[in-house]
Amino acid sequence: MGIYFDKENNIFKLDTATSSYLIEIFDQNYLLHLYYGAKIPDTNLNMLHARSTYASFSAGNENIPFGDFSADTWPMEYGCNGCGDFRISALQIKDKTGCNATDIRYISHEIINGKPSLPGLPALYTENDADAQTLAIKTLDKVSGAQVTLYYTVFENLGAMTRWAVIENTSDNAMELERSMSLCVDLPEMNYDMITLYGRHNKERTAERRALAHGIQGIASKRGSSSHQQNPFMALCEKGATEDFGNCYGFNLVYSCNFLAEAEVDSNCGTRVLMGINPSSFSWHLEAGETFTTPEAVMVFSENGLGEMSRIFHRLYNKHLIRGEWKEKKRPLLINSWEAAYFSFDDDKLVAFAEKAKELGIEMLVMDDGWFGKRNDDRSSLGDWYVNTDKLKGGLDSLVKRVNALGLKFGIWYEPEMISPDSDLYRAHPDWCIHVAGRERSVGRQQYVIDFSRKDVRDAIYAQMYEVLSSTKIDYLKWDFNRNITEAGSAILPAERQKEFFHRFVLGTYEIMDRLTKDFPHMLLENCSGGGGRFDPGMLYYSPQIWTSDNTDPIERLSIQFGTSLCYPASTMGAHVSACRRTGYDTKGAVALWGTFGYELDPTKLSPEDACRVKRQVEEYHKYYDLIRWGDLYRIKNPEEDGFDCAWEFVSEDKKEALLTVIVMRRDAMKNRILRFKGLDPEKKYECDFDNEEYCGQTLMKAGLNLSQMHLNDHEVVRVYIKEVD
Ligand code: DGJ
Repeated sequence: MGIYFDKENNIFKLDTATSSYLIEIFDQNYLLHLYYGAKIPDTNLNMLHARSTYASFSAGNENIPFGDFSADTWPMEYGCNGCGDFRISALQIKDKTGCNATDIRYISHEIINGKPSLPGLPALYTENDADAQTLAIKTLDKVSGAQVTLYYTVFENLGAMTRWAVIENTSDNAMELERSMSLCVDLPEMNYDMITLYGRHNKERTAERRALAHGIQGIASKRGSSSHQQNPFMALCEKGATEDFGNCYGFNLVYSCNFLAEAEVDSNCGTRVLMGINPSSFSWHLEAGETFTTPEAVMVFSENGLGEMSRIFHRLYNKHLIRGEWKEKKRPLLINSWEAAYFSFDDDKLVAFAEKAKELGIEMLVMDDGWFGKRNDDRSSLGDWYVNTDKLKGGLDSLVKRVNALGLKFGIWYEPEMISPDSDLYRAHPDWCIHVAGRERSVGRQQYVIDFSRKDVRDAIYAQMYEVLSSTKIDYLKWDFNRNITEAGSAILPAERQKEFFHRFVLGTYEIMDRLTKDFPHMLLENCSGGGGRFDPGMLYYSPQIWTSDNTDPIERLSIQFGTSLCYPASTMGAHVSACRRTGYDTKGAVALWGTFGYELDPTKLSPEDACRVKRQVEEYHKYYDLIRWGDLYRIKNPEEDGFDCAWEFVSEDKKEALLTVIVMRRDAMKNRILRFKGLDPEKKYECDFDNEEYCGQTLMKAGLNLSQMHLNDHEVVRVYIKEVD
């Protein structure tokens, strides 16, 4: 199995298919980080703990010979505040004295087969114990009485590990947890580039790469969600690393609220990486005997570039994060009413969409925003989750039956964490929205956020949802979240617990999502937050797919989908063909095929030619479904970098087939256009639908295909499908 304890050297070795991770129990029971990188055979690596020679001003420990150790410069496994380690801290606890100096030391450990779950939190899981092994290292801060257990799960066959910490107050007094990060890794060098995913509404998860420099650099959210602006993902890759070469570390937090991901390069040119709940808007009050569990962080290492790092994330998430019936089951090809009708629809119009959609081969109609309360624009009714019978004249059940009778499934939209000032719910419970007494309540999209940290509020919203969802057959629910949280105060928490608010809020959201998935196990949940403002592994635990972006322009989508794919698999990325006129249907279809395919347009307005194109896309969706759903992604030409072309490829796990898609970003009549496949079996012979010739995998990967003679215009698509010759 993946975890081994070398008693002689007091070293833990955690191996995955691609990496090794070593921790040492050092003198005075300090936990030191020895190594994280490519898989190695030895464990006796105590020599790696030394970092730099003695330096003035670096404090040591009075029980360790002078100069032999300093928490300031040595690699600490979970760096603590105020006892000699001056770098960014993973842990900071204020004890009964009011001091927040913190210092944990090893006391015992346990190796467990399988993986424990995290109470109330989304987390990776195993279906059987053979899939993973977990190391739990118990440590203690003697003075405060905080017992901190560091957990490490090793997915040995997948090249990935996860980490989290559980802090228990074993003292007789209350303490404040001011910082408790999910991961801390001390790397010995600084020659890395940091890659993060920045964005905004309509431009989520665009990859950005910069060289590390001395000092602290990083990304964060304090918006009450993982956010459009930064995703809880960070990669450190060796300078010069590409899709196919170089050491790459990928870190991703299984969390949907305020986070922090930082790297600090210290004066000796070592790099500390931290990831966890953003401490700027967090603290947790622990009474004697109480515990706190941090969210889980995922760590992937690849020595073969960013492409392999992404494929490890994809396999891991498809197998150990996505849950429930829809993990394996084919996702329905849907049409969503939003861009087709916005708020202006009634049941007859929706049935007309469904009739046309059926003709085209579409499998599910989703009724988006506007079906409830008096909602005719975005100024009212959030919180009034009862059917608007002016629009659905025969009621919801009658509409669902009419759509089902056509042979289509039916889906619905909700925004459960929100409340409109103009709603019956707000008039009855103005105190239910998040607010700070005496402060103005900021509005976003004309709405407030409801206090999901409160059980009474959650129960009331869930009761309304349950009534509607159990009144008829709902196959799909789109859960939206259209603003960030301001004036983050709780009307019921005492002053010393106010900084718990954000975490309690997201735990409340997770609880309702958990109830939904348990009460309606057949219903497919798709998350959304004004597009992809909450696209994170925490949400993926409940909803196997997330609407990637409100931006459905296929060309602008390319950078969004490339960035998203750094750690999230195709099976999670909601991608639809819309009426956008920038490109023709072939390009729109090719881009949407990368994700969970669907439509976002009025099908009754399609020209006969476009309707034929849509029918062809539907056939292609079925033809390539397994290849894209379960295949390996290779990013061939990045839209932000190449300038002329953008290209990506899916290769089936058995390497028997592959689909390469090229989009012309900028036409240049004179330019050679050679496209090389990746990830094929060099020995296999493939038939190629581009020229109906047969080529060896090696030829397609090394010589490539020559598209130079094609007269391609800007934004045109070329798709090449290859299949092993029988
Ligand atoms: C934002 C989402 O991203 C859209 O797809 C749509 O559902 C609207 N909200 C509805 O208000």
